[in-house]
Amino acid sequence: MSHHFIRFTNVHYSYPDGTEALKGISLTVTHGERVALLGLNGCGKSTLLLHTNGLLLPSEGEVNVGDVPVTKNTLPVVRRAVGMVFQNPDDMLFMPTVYDDVAFGPRNMKLPEKEVDRRVRTALSAVGLKGCDDKAAFQLSGGQRRSAAIASVLSMEPDILVLDEPSSNLDIKARRNLIDLLKTFHHTIIVATHDMEMAQELCPRSILMQDGRIIADASTSEIMQRI
Ligand SMILES: Nc1ncnc2c1ncn2[C@@H]1O[C@H](COP(=O)(O)OP(=O)(O)O)[C@@H](O)[C@H]1O
Ligand SMILES: [Mg+2]
Repeated sequence: MSHHFIRFTNVHYSYPDGTEALKGISLTVTHGERVALLGLNGCGKSTLLLHTNGLLLPSEGEVNVGDVPVTKNTLPVVRRAVGMVFQNPDDMLFMPTVYDDVAFGPRNMKLPEKEVDRRVRTALSAVGLKGCDDKAAFQLSGGQRRSAAIASVLSMEPDILVLDEPSSNLDIKARRNLIDLLKTFHHTIIVATHDMEMAQELCPRSILMQDGRIIADASTSEIMQRI
């Protein structure tokens, strides 16, 4: 099957308390694109991202990852294809060591331990955390925790990498490392961010949201002129 695009068709989502967070989102991101998701707090960016790998399912409309519709039944397949890095890395690091956190996904995929080890080492080295295998997450700096969270997704070798405000709370050096790392990921990236510089440097395309809707979808430089 092809995972090589992700498509939203008229997606609506209301939270259980009745908040209508997505009001008809239609959107296609094709393989290898890097797209920034922009907009003020509360406009629906995180809600949209949570639909990319089925953490939320639409109240109405459909999300497809390649030719697979995202439903309860397809979640294992979808989550192999779409790797999601949450806004708060502490939500993703829960094992005793960084190694185990990064190994968690591949082990869950029942890969042989040798392959798990190869993936963990590759991912830790990609994010600059070589040598931190045996540390606990709380022994890392904020930037390193973010890197560990990203490694825990990279180790699953996703086709599509989705990140929610990855550069928030990073110092200049950690932010630079993050941007450089994301540039080396040759698959699809969707990143929600307030970091306009990062959007400009990383993403040729930007999507601007307002109040649960997409109000612009264009080149990042065009969008920059509008806001
Ligand atoms: N768990 C939740 N329950 C109820 N409303 C929520 C929940 N999470 C977010 N919302 C609401 O949904 C809307 C979109 O939020 P969100 O997707 O987090 O926006 P953004 O990521 O752009 O800041 C906001 O009105 C927010 O208050
Ligand atoms: Mg958010």
